Amino acid sequence: MIKTSPIKTIHVGILGLGTVGSGVYQILKSHAKSIEEKSGLRFFIKKVCVKNPAKKRRPRVPRGILTRRPSDLWKDPAIDIVVELIGGIHPAKETILEAFRHGKHVVTANKALLAEEGRILFQEAAAHHKKLGLEASVCGGIPIIKSLTEGLASNRISHFLGIVNGTCNYILSAMSDRPYAFGEALKEAQGRGYAESNPALDIDGVDSAHKLAVLARLAFGAEFPFRSIHVEGIRGLKALDVAYARELGYVIKLLAIGKRLRNGLELRVHPTMLPLDHPLSNVRGVYNAVFVHADQAGDLLFYGRGAGMFPTASAVVSDIIDIAKKISQDADVEPPAFSWVSRQKVLPIGNVVSQYYLRFQVADKPGVLGRIAQSLGKHGISILSVHQKEPLSTRSVPVIILTYEAQEKNLKSALSEINKARDVREKTVVMRVER
Ligand code: NDP
Ligand code: HSE
Repeated sequence: MIKTSPIKTIHVGILGLGTVGSGVYQILKSHAKSIEEKSGLRFFIKKVCVKNPAKKRRPRVPRGILTRRPSDLWKDPAIDIVVELIGGIHPAKETILEAFRHGKHVVTANKALLAEEGRILFQEAAAHHKKLGLEASVCGGIPIIKSLTEGLASNRISHFLGIVNGTCNYILSAMSDRPYAFGEALKEAQGRGYAESNPALDIDGVDSAHKLAVLARLAFGAEFPFRSIHVEGIRGLKALDVAYARELGYVIKLLAIGKRLRNGLELRVHPTMLPLDHPLSNVRGVYNAVFVHADQAGDLLFYGRGAGMFPTASAVVSDIIDIAKKISQDADVEPPAFSWVSRQKVLPIGNVVSQYYLRFQVADKPGVLGRIAQSLGKHGISILSVHQKEPLSTRSVPVIILTYEAQEKNLKSALSEINKARDVREKTVVMRVER
């Protein structure tokens, strides 16, 4: 007969009962039996901290466990794990630090806090031998953090490309399929509840940069200031360029790109043209995906829902169970994820070597194209192909040039010359092409 150990009960305090918090609350209740069968653990939600305890909530939460004081969670000696799901920097940061100081483990989905203040959180976790679970902070339901830190533990990761913002991916998919202008696609995303009423963090690329910071620290063991990430969003993207990209066999995605080069790291978020047969090109709508190149495992693609109540809560609960297993085995919690990172240099965007899509709006006159080609050539930019489109007005005609690989600072020099020319009617549109 197999001897079974007694079921252990782990006490949880949840800070924040919005989209993700109420998903966690529901999963811990609705899946209690299967969690117990799989892990031998029971979870008891001891306290829930919210801004407004009087608010009507679904699911219903017993009044007795609701509080508006985060300190009620970290001061409660029975609570083993504090789950931070309020978002933002304050008071999330202070609450997590106090939780460690009071001997609690912490689980968070707060990518903004991890990106900007991750170092101090992990230092404090290490100092108190506690764990900080962060699976839900990047790509919601996709277990990308576990894959990077555990599944690929022996691999050296050279680069990864991620579609890590569902709102932007929805907007770009709609612009490519319908076709919609940016504003129409954003409105549709808001109408379907994907984009916030103030969607700035998403469409300006900041949310993707937060997630890139977390992924790069784990994939490359690197520490760097968050502000060293180059960030461009999709706000200025024109339907015209989405359509031309398509005609040329490409799709535009907002990518979070991390590359480990010999002389430093490339960390950048920007709209990127991908060939239609690239594994990320078919990631549509609100879905997320991360393409990883690891030296032993090879190319890997992680795909799934990057946001929403249950996908995100699923990742939070997986961290809770992981930590609870360690607590129940009285096992030492391993060093937290960022504790072994070393300071690494982030290369300036001018050093990036890429192929480019360039759209010039020029006067339809003899010699104009020749002068553009001459300027590009003078700065070492080699042309892969040239495409002249139907004039959009009597004033200018679009000319599209795809280049071979070139260094970005050389392209910038060429364009600053070209953009000043009399026959160039608008600032040239530039998009990096990734293969
Ligand atoms: P919501 O805005 O839906 O919920 C926030 C919750 O926090 C609410 O319950 C609110 O209380 C509570 N709260 C806010 N400020 C305080 C405070 N000062 N003290 C106590 N309680 C407070 O957020 P989400 O659930 O969407 O996001 C939570 C975290 O998860 C964020 O870090 C977010 O970036 C991250 N995340 C979210 C995803 C998603 O799909 N939504 C996906 C991946 C990560 P009250 O209910 O009383 O207003
Ligand atoms: N705003 C984010 C998105 C939520 O659209 O992907 C998940 O982090």
